[in-house]
Amino acid sequence: MEFIDRLALVSDPRLRVVALTGAGISAESGVPIFRGRGSMWENEKARTLARKAGPPWNTKGTWEFYEWRRGLVHRCKPNAGHPALVDMEHYFQDFGLITQNVDGLHGRAGSGRVLEQHGNMWKARCPRDGEIVDLPETPIGRLPPYHSCGTALRPHVVQFGESLDQGTLKAALGVSSRANLFLVVGTSGVVSPASQMPLIALKNGATVIEVNRDATALTPHVTISLRGMAAEILPRFWKAFLAKEARELKPEGE
Ligand code: APR
Repeated sequence: MEFIDRLALVSDPRLRVVALTGAGISAESGVPIFRGRGSMWENEKARTLARKAGPPWNTKGTWEFYEWRRGLVHRCKPNAGHPALVDMEHYFQDFGLITQNVDGLHGRAGSGRVLEQHGNMWKARCPRDGEIVDLPETPIGRLPPYHSCGTALRPHVVQFGESLDQGTLKAALGVSSRANLFLVVGTSGVVSPASQMPLIALKNGATVIEVNRDATALTPHVTISLRGMAAEILPRFWKAFLAKEARELKPEGE
């Protein structure tokens, strides 16, 4: 079935639509990705600072690394890809936005309910009582910052080997298993459990559309893979979707 027919089939506001995003959606805002060309680790400073960060993640070294990342992201603005997802949230009765990003750009673009799987760098958490506090401004002065209980705070960001917030994860798995249309945008699809969510949607009969600059681990599995930059493809996809004029959006190889 040609792409347009699949698209025409699915352009209905009663659809249950989910979007899963990764670092690639923020790349054109100036936020470095984690793997491949343009990754944060190409930057010597990032590597040096990251070496000083570590468990229990509320150390001065950890905060020097995160203040560097926060300083960088603070100067970034959402790009055209982010508001396209905001429009979808307003259009569909049942829309879920799952992100692996901790940069907070979806929220700044106006997305209402974002299931932040890996946390948010503009929040901190108390390792003693678990309270989550907002840290919207950078620089935050003395490092580490302290909680009102006197304990040094840690960035509210999931580190490798740590478990995700169970409520947020459960919600993401729930919307993924009920989706009719699942968009996977700007992720290499190598980090679980997020990488499983498009496959769960596929198994439950969803149309899964990938938007990515390059082929990924998910490309062989998705229904359609659109190659290009998220800030360019997402608004075009959305315009075509609304107008059901998808002829201009040819997937890879068709
Ligand atoms: N538009 C679309 N896709 C892009 C763009 C762009 N402008 N720029 C890069 N990409 C794609 C890359 O081709 C790659 O597939 O975005 C993806 C980014 O992949 P990663 O850097 O691996 O980021 P992500 O998938 O979000 O990483 C998952 O890994 O390091 C951990 O916790 C971190 O949340 C992160 C998780």
